[in-house]
Amino acid sequence: MESHNSIQLNKPRRGDGPAMRAIARDTGVLSVNSAYYYAMMARCFSDTCLVARSGEQVCGYIAALFLPAQPETLFVWQIGVSRAAQGKGIGKQMLIRLIERARPTFLEATIALDNQASLRAFQAAARQMAADATFSDKPFFTQSDMGSADAPEHLMRIGPIQLLKQNA
Ligand SMILES: CC(C)(COP(=O)(O)OP(=O)(O)OC[C@H]1O[C@@H](n2cnc3c(N)ncnc32)[C@H](O)[C@@H]1OP(=O)(O)O)[C@@H](O)C(=O)NCCC(=O)NCCS
Repeated sequence: MESHNSIQLNKPRRGDGPAMRAIARDTGVLSVNSAYYYAMMARCFSDTCLVARSGEQVCGYIAALFLPAQPETLFVWQIGVSRAAQGKGIGKQMLIRLIERARPTFLEATIALDNQASLRAFQAAARQMAADATFSDKPFFTQSDMGSADAPEHLMRIGPIQLLKQNA
């Protein structure tokens, strides 16, 4: 795995929405949401989102929010790394940095069963946090929930994340 010391991991800045959206498109895997959605995440949810920059170029992002009914749970809505930058540790480092910053007790995300890169990135972040990671057998979002032919999404839950609380 290559070093990525030159990658900066920070909150999105206002105006980062289009770059986040371009990465979603570039992955060929993520749903490409509206321009408004990414602008909203970058402007109104920046405390729980993150972008990775190589120089001025955004090469990865996480869009996440605390669940209103479970305010200790940070739900990762999307994580994406541009194809050219994948497999270099950026996805895992983004997750770790966001956990360190947002300090959730639990982290959740839904993942399709065949998405090994995503599954392993979340598992690697959990290992780093010395936290349990569970992956549900039953779909969290089914095709009927999503109204599409996309693969069902299963819930990944990481936590409790205790070390961070002790180190806070
Ligand atoms: C999923 C994603 C964010 C991971 O980011 P990344 O920077 O590529 O991943 P990392 O380099 O940090 O690797 C994290 C782990 O996944 C493994 N991994 C990376 N790419 C992989 C691949 N193509 N297949 C299997 N495992 C892979 C790494 O070996 C590492 O595991 P390890 O620490 O146990 O060795 C990125 O690949 C991506 O944007 N994919 C397309 C969009 C997507 O699927 N998003 C998630 C939807 S839930």
